[in-house]
Amino acid sequence: MVRRAPGSGMAPDSGPRRVGVLGFGRLGQSLVSHLLSQGQDLGLELVFVWNRNPEHMAGQVPQSLQLKNLAALGERHPDLVVEVAHPKIVQEFGPGILEHANLLVGSPSALADANTEKRLLEASRRWDHSVFVARGALWGTEDIARLDAAGGLQSLRVTMATHPDGFRLEGPLAAARCSEPRTVLYEGPVRGLCPFAPRNSNTMAAAALAAPSLGFDGVVGVLVADLSLTDRHVVDVELRGPPGPSGRSFAVSTRRENPAQPGAVTGSATVTAFWRSLLGCCQLPARPGIHLC
Ligand SMILES: NC(=O)c1ccc[n+]([C@@H]2O[C@H](COP(=O)([O-])OP(=O)(O)OC[C@H]3O[C@@H](n4cnc5c(N)ncnc54)[C@H](O)[C@@H]3O)[C@@H](O)[C@H]2O)c1
Repeated sequence: MVRRAPGSGMAPDSGPRRVGVLGFGRLGQSLVSHLLSQGQDLGLELVFVWNRNPEHMAGQVPQSLQLKNLAALGERHPDLVVEVAHPKIVQEFGPGILEHANLLVGSPSALADANTEKRLLEASRRWDHSVFVARGALWGTEDIARLDAAGGLQSLRVTMATHPDGFRLEGPLAAARCSEPRTVLYEGPVRGLCPFAPRNSNTMAAAALAAPSLGFDGVVGVLVADLSLTDRHVVDVELRGPPGPSGRSFAVSTRRENPAQPGAVTGSATVTAFWRSLLGCCQLPARPGIHLC
């Protein structure tokens, strides 16, 4: 029996919600497997999978679901397109996808490019579709957003530490040497880090979107190569409010230690978080704008 996601914003007789997936790496494979095994019960139908290297899908994705040409995804009539490939895909194809469907962005570092954010917002308003952003490895997303909306956030700092093999760095950061036990590769505005660590700055980018009063220029990102972290990703979130009458500030620190296979850019708990984000955004009504889920 097909069970509809409550409050999905679709007429009950309109059939299952049609989902397409861009990217077939660690996250893409997991989401596709969940959609194929549980989708029908949840009112979700996988309508295509696209991957840069189509041969990686052989034997795992039915031929009829393999999308050859990303630009032709509208022909599959998706309701939701999930990006779990690379920020470049969001930058290049995101605005066009919004003409056809809501978009769930798995690589929010793409939005550090102000022009990309502007084009996504314009397309979202024009076509009345949502840009959802997966919170990924960011713990406490709602609390950060609520504090920010209440005007209670003065500083936000997100530190991501892992073994250097877990990094995919570009530009000047790619040449950095990590021979010390712990090397700080970058410390500064998240906007300056994303272009050089597009696949390792997504948690910081999600924080910048959760706290628009600080945004990509005000949230501080710290990237740390730690030779001891061979099997996990560690994300520290530290925030402060403005000083109160006593001179003291409200402050929160969280540490998320996520087991990860050596060299993987995505830890195990983050794979689960993405599936929950996919289910979550299918339960939200489509409305223009950028929404964390
Ligand atoms: N928001 C978060 O907290 C968070 C957490 C983990 C991963 N991510 C992001 O999600 C995305 C997928 O992660 P993953 O663990 O599945 O990675 P992965 O390396 O296992 O798979 C990436 C997939 O995208 C494809 N790909 C890589 N570069 C591409 C490009 N330039 N153009 C088109 N396709 C490309 C690869 O072929 C592969 O199929 C990455 O961008 C990653 O940074 C975000």
